[in-house]
Amino acid sequence: MATTILNHALIDHKLTIMRDKDTKTIVFKDNLDEIAMLMAYEVTKELPLVDKEIVTPICPMIGKELKKQIILVPILRAGIGLVDGFRRIIPTAKIGHIGMARNEETLIPEEYYAKFPSGLEDSIVIIVDPMLATGGSASAAITNIKARGAKDIRLVCLVGAPEGVKVIEEDHPDVELILATLDEKLNEKGYIVPGLGDAGDRLFGTD
Ligand code: PRP
Ligand code: URA
Repeated sequence: MATTILNHALIDHKLTIMRDKDTKTIVFKDNLDEIAMLMAYEVTKELPLVDKEIVTPICPMIGKELKKQIILVPILRAGIGLVDGFRRIIPTAKIGHIGMARNEETLIPEEYYAKFPSGLEDSIVIIVDPMLATGGSASAAITNIKARGAKDIRLVCLVGAPEGVKVIEEDHPDVELILATLDEKLNEKGYIVPGLGDAGDRLFGTD
């Protein structure tokens, strides 16, 4: 499935604020919230719909409603920063959680927490994480969520590296990948260049 890079003017403006090393936690979080809403709008634009019979104050009509339940899955920790914005746009979304931590030396991700609502098989699962670096965390998260029954999965990240995009496209060709922007490369520590640093630390003030 194709990778989409949004390249949206307002998102790029807010992302530049987030990238600035002098931006404090609260401003970082506020901008991530706002970007999440903009991304949720873009990502949901072509969701499948079914007809719904209603009566307007004027006459009966066939309207539309979402065909499938949406399950939003933040990859802990930093993915949590995208949840509020998405929920504001899709208030009926249910939320699953998956905790993936990169081993700082091997960069190999390990699952340390998982909790999902029922109905993964029939839902549209939107996995969110601000950063797609080596792609290891997201690829492992997708594998684990598929193993629990999910079939229709989208991965939404703010900043991606070409290395991570390649991993997702190769490991999960059936998953739609949506990025706000594609950066240049990874550095020797697996950080995205130019990137925005450690998203979890900047979001939660733990650096
Ligand atoms: C960050 C980020 C992604 C992952 C991306 O999480 O939020 O989940 O790194 O890197 P990868 O593509 O190379 O796997 P991290 O492991 O730092 O955990 P945290 O969110 O708890 O800080
Ligand atoms: N995780 C982050 O938070 N930032 C990066 O640049 C890479 C992985």
